Amino acid sequence: MCGIVGYVGRGEVVPVLLEGLRSLEYRGYDSSGIAVHTGEALRVVKKAGRIANLERALNAHPLSGRCGIGHTRWATHGVATDLNAHPFLSQSGTFAVVHNGILTNYRALASDLVSQGVTFSSDTDSEAIAHLIERLYEGDVLSAIRSAAERLEGSYALAVLSLYEPNVIYGVRKDSPLVIGRGKEGFSLCSDISGIFDICDAYCPLGNGEIVRLRSEGAERYDAEGRERPISYLTRETEDCLGGQYAEDRMLSEIREIPRALSLGSEHFPRGALRRLLVGTGEDVLLLGCGSAYHAGLVFRAAMRELCGVEVRAEIASELLTARVPVDERTLVIALSQSGETADTLRAAERAKERGAHLLSVCNVRASSLVRLSDDALVTRCGRECAVAATKSYVAQVQALLQICLEYADIMGKITAEKLDVFRRELDALPAKAAHLIGEEGRMAALASRVKGAKAVFYLGRGLDYAAAREGSLKLKEVSYLFSEAYPSGELKHGTLALMEHGVYGVLVATDPALTEKNAATIAEITCRGASAVVIASESVAPHLPAECLLTVPDAPPLFSPILSSIVMQQLAYFVAKARGCDPDRPRNLAKSVTVE
Ligand code: F6R
Repeated sequence: MCGIVGYVGRGEVVPVLLEGLRSLEYRGYDSSGIAVHTGEALRVVKKAGRIANLERALNAHPLSGRCGIGHTRWATHGVATDLNAHPFLSQSGTFAVVHNGILTNYRALASDLVSQGVTFSSDTDSEAIAHLIERLYEGDVLSAIRSAAERLEGSYALAVLSLYEPNVIYGVRKDSPLVIGRGKEGFSLCSDISGIFDICDAYCPLGNGEIVRLRSEGAERYDAEGRERPISYLTRETEDCLGGQYAEDRMLSEIREIPRALSLGSEHFPRGALRRLLVGTGEDVLLLGCGSAYHAGLVFRAAMRELCGVEVRAEIASELLTARVPVDERTLVIALSQSGETADTLRAAERAKERGAHLLSVCNVRASSLVRLSDDALVTRCGRECAVAATKSYVAQVQALLQICLEYADIMGKITAEKLDVFRRELDALPAKAAHLIGEEGRMAALASRVKGAKAVFYLGRGLDYAAAREGSLKLKEVSYLFSEAYPSGELKHGTLALMEHGVYGVLVATDPALTEKNAATIAEITCRGASAVVIASESVAPHLPAECLLTVPDAPPLFSPILSSIVMQQLAYFVAKARGCDPDRPRNLAKSVTVE
């Protein structure tokens, strides 16, 4: 899972590729590299580590040309070394290839190529593609790429340079995203629009099996059978960048953008369509997502129980692909994804559609593969999220889902008009309450300096608070590398309590006044074993909880508390990561968009 970019135009290609790679770094940052057609040869510079390392290498060995491809890598096959970095040159140096995806038949391909005398220089699956294209070349680059693509199994988006065609780039994809961009100075291709945002006025996502040939003056698109297809460009959307004023780290900026994201809400809330859908599908609603997006689905599930007394299903997308999860034409599948490019979520959504389900997506990127696949979409407007950890996008997803929950309660007669009115006003009040929490961020520094040395941090809560705790725990572990898990508070005494001792922290989410007694008991269970308790409590609950460390959040109906408590948990994760000297924007081993299954 990686990011690829290519450009052919009138100016120097290297600065354009580097800019593209910087924007794509969220897809992986184990290594990066570029290949340029110099007019005489294909030249490659690639380096393990962050893009700064590549820039240093390019300063030492400058490349010049108008046509090139680049790659930023998240390692799947082969450790992150210079040799395993992309691009890969074919044996005779006639083709250079960058690849995003995973080849499932690469062992067979590689052994075949080795038997033909090819020597591999890396441990990656991707290198085989460059050699394969070279072997299949018989005077026509397009045919060689098409024949190679026919032999590849798995997922791929490729950008290819050929020594035989100095000012041309080729792109081809299957199950990994690729868009082409048209600009004033030339044509580009990229894993997503963000990498070519500044150099294109219009873009076109490629379909599965399609191949493009780009020159500075034009683009041609072919289907898998080699028939030329017209290109219909979409106007580039102006990104709804909220902040502009960046803090030292993007994660902190993005947390600070939450009040504004909440006030912008979703692009268009399809109330009428949603009503028809919910009435049509009755009560079979299935949420799909990975990581934080799945956790947003857990909040929805808890909210539906709480408000409507209705059981909806929430599945981790990869589990839907593996287990026999019942889905049919009566199911409303709600696919959750910030990026809309997460491979597991996309595959699971496709699978659900094949079985006849109606697909509604909640997504932050209108031009994404998921939105294109969906029957209906609720597009959140929190702007581009750059830090790897989902913060504002998670909150925006929860907000959108809570709106769906209220709509459902209304349609199914689960709520009185008066109560609905109160809840809608509470939704409107959330941006101000979130802004209050942003103003309180200073209280985290001292706490973070204590938590930074924790042996383990357990997140606890009941009902909606537990759903929120799941996300809090993920946030802490991914950016600070502290060991953390989340449990329903009541489960503590069924095993995990054995781990409570001095040096361990319990972070208890306790926002519901109805649960105050139970929450007080949980605090006692933690602290009497010598562990420390950090309690996130609503203002009216806090005075009744015997905790040394209380982080208050404004009062809100339990339904809305996950939005507020999660802001506090995101702040805690960020400040603990900083206190531990971690880079919160680029946690090790992770990438923003996981485009492989
Ligand atoms: C955690 C995080 C990931 C993503 C997950 C799904 O902070 O960011 O767990 O939530 O990879 O990504 P999307 O929402 O783009 O499908």
